Amino acid sequence: MQNVDEDTITQIVLARHAEATDPRLKQIMTSVVQHLHAFARDVQLTEEEWFKGIQFLTDVGHITDDKRQEFILLSDTLGLSMLVTALNNRKPMGCTESTVFGPFFVENAPQYQNGDDVANGAKGEPCFVTGRITGLGGEPVPNARIEVWQADSDGFYDVQYEGATHNHGRGMLRSLADGSFHFKSVTAESYPIPHDGPVGRMLNALGRHPWRPAHLHFMIDAPGYERLITHVFRSGDQYLDSDAVFGVRSSLVADWRRHETGRAPDGTQIDTPYSTLDFTFVLNRASATVESRAA
Ligand code: BEZ
Ligand code: FE
Repeated sequence: MQNVDEDTITQIVLARHAEATDPRLKQIMTSVVQHLHAFARDVQLTEEEWFKGIQFLTDVGHITDDKRQEFILLSDTLGLSMLVTALNNRKPMGCTESTVFGPFFVENAPQYQNGDDVANGAKGEPCFVTGRITGLGGEPVPNARIEVWQADSDGFYDVQYEGATHNHGRGMLRSLADGSFHFKSVTAESYPIPHDGPVGRMLNALGRHPWRPAHLHFMIDAPGYERLITHVFRSGDQYLDSDAVFGVRSSLVADWRRHETGRAPDGTQIDTPYSTLDFTFVLNRASATVESRAA
């Protein structure tokens, strides 16, 4: 008979995985068990602390629904989402780096033409965005599918508003023949991630803030290239070095130039200050295995 004690339990649990038929699942669960047991030994976890942990995860589950994904927030704030993103998106030097997807992307956002206003009523100072999609050799990538989404000047995505129509500050457009694109929107501002739940309580208990530096989200697909999911961050933002979800990469920080009232890039006269942003996205060539996924 086996004697289960603190020295033998890890090996006894792992031995029960012997019959697992999925080798990858077996590898993952073996590592999970080893690391969990090592963690409990490392901190000499008390029963009271373990129960608090169970209660915390229960709370994370209870607040999660089809609009609020607290488990993703937990993964994001523990740096796990960014680690998984980095592990799975290694690219040659010169390619635009990837960052976290976040929970606020919506499928089937409105389709726009270049020059259109994707803010579509979202609050904020006007912002004129120009850019180019290229390959690593500088070749233009025409007809790339560009999804863009952002928070308004109050720091909320459209989907965070009660009864949201899901159509403010997000949209899809395509790059032109020379790889360029341009659209109007509102100037992104820093905002706190949802922090009225267990993850917010965790951040507070750890002396951490919930803020993300101002950014615009992009997801870019083009045949023959890897999908790029990334942000462009606004230089000078006070949270660039303390992003609550660890998503900042220095190559993704750009100047958003502020302008006084006057003639805007689209030729219209603007009577409020506005900003302009220009950014070139460099896509990585798709390997044979991922090529079929491109739009
Ligand atoms: C976002 O940038 O939209 C985001 C990312 C991670 C957690 C919350 C929000
Ligand atoms: Fe965001």
